[in-house]
Amino acid sequence: MADTLTGPVPETPDPLPEFPMPRAARCPFDPPPALKELQERAPLTKVRLWDGSEPWLVTRHADQRALLGDPRVSADTDTPGYPPKADGGGDSKFGFIMLDDPEHARLRRMVTAPFAIKRVEALRPVVQNIVDGLVDELLAGPKPVDLVEAFALPIPSLVICELLGVPYDDHAFFQDNTKTMVHRDATPEQRRQASGEIAVYLGGLIGKRLADPQDDLLSGIAGRVRAGEIDHRQATEMALLLLFAGHETTANMIALGTLALLQNPDQLALLRDTDDPKLVVSAVEELLRYLNITHLGRRRAVTADIEIGGQVIRAGEGLIMVNEIANRDPEVFPDPDRLDITRDARRHVAFSFGVHQCLGQPLARMELQVVYGTLYRRIPTLRLAGSLDEVRFKDDAFIYGVHSLPVTW
Ligand code: HEM
Repeated sequence: MADTLTGPVPETPDPLPEFPMPRAARCPFDPPPALKELQERAPLTKVRLWDGSEPWLVTRHADQRALLGDPRVSADTDTPGYPPKADGGGDSKFGFIMLDDPEHARLRRMVTAPFAIKRVEALRPVVQNIVDGLVDELLAGPKPVDLVEAFALPIPSLVICELLGVPYDDHAFFQDNTKTMVHRDATPEQRRQASGEIAVYLGGLIGKRLADPQDDLLSGIAGRVRAGEIDHRQATEMALLLLFAGHETTANMIALGTLALLQNPDQLALLRDTDDPKLVVSAVEELLRYLNITHLGRRRAVTADIEIGGQVIRAGEGLIMVNEIANRDPEVFPDPDRLDITRDARRHVAFSFGVHQCLGQPLARMELQVVYGTLYRRIPTLRLAGSLDEVRFKDDAFIYGVHSLPVTW
């Protein structure tokens, strides 16, 4: 429950700050300065969105965790007060990520087994093989090369395709549509069309698995349809959520994480030269904390009044919990703006918190551990081809990262 959240009752800035805020030029890894200022001056304040609505912005780590764990806080986009992400189509509902318990829990339980730590660990040699194969191809191919296309995107795409039973040969189709789905400047119609096309495709695959089950997650989902537990549309939405979340996020972490390490050569050297697998694990947690690619925050609506240290958030009001600023909260992470792969960053909220915390986190962690533990060791002279100024960052997408990353060695 969120009754005893931290900090003094904040003053309300006048006029209300607009959200989202821009990052500072030449600080692509840091949250917008205006967010940092609010965390210090007014950690719980209203902000104004593109449509004039005024949700609360929650910036402190403790407050975010308390609210994300509070059953009076809804993730359902239909709940009154839910802060709209973008003009219409940004919030198209897919899967249980935008449902509340008990329905959310019922659906989530149907697909948890393949993401359990033991099952994921059994996949580690498969992922290691994929990563080694792609590094071999990089080394044998021309330079410079775009690390996003040649390495960062294929790894999680191959893995989630294998898990789900989606043919990897179709990757260009679903990667292109996913790009449109997360593009902030795409029109609602374009976003709807993109998710619709993948949905038709996945719906077709589920239909095939209904008739001819295989040993994959799509067949498991189809089995739930056959048992009458979900209908075909729910099954398709579930598959869409897994395919989308399974590749777009991890791919951005691989490319952006590599760039962050190249910009912090002392940290890269520590990682490259270590024999200690624990340091690789710790580097992954720190990069998740430091980069926080789901940069536009967790959105929620309040279904019953919640008191926060004297401040009442009313039923019907919206909340935005920007995890990237919580991950820079100095009360939890000393010297938070420094990338330090030796620190204990495990309390980060890059995978969110509460019932909606990332289902795929064991898989994402394992993939990143294999990548970060392999790439720089096998290509020790890896470097950016060109300057940082030439890199295009994904300020225009719901998931942060780089559009491309030209590298050489
Ligand atoms: C580094 C990579 C990843 C990051 C940073 C990430 C981040 C997140 C975050 C922040 C949420 C919470 C959303 C919310 O609270 O509203 C989430 C949920 C989710 N993620 Fe991930 N994710 C990653 C990788 C993956 C992978 C590999 C999968 C595998 C399919 C996955 C599947 C999901 C699912 C199904 C949910 C919804 C959980 C629910 O609502 O119960 N994610 N992820």
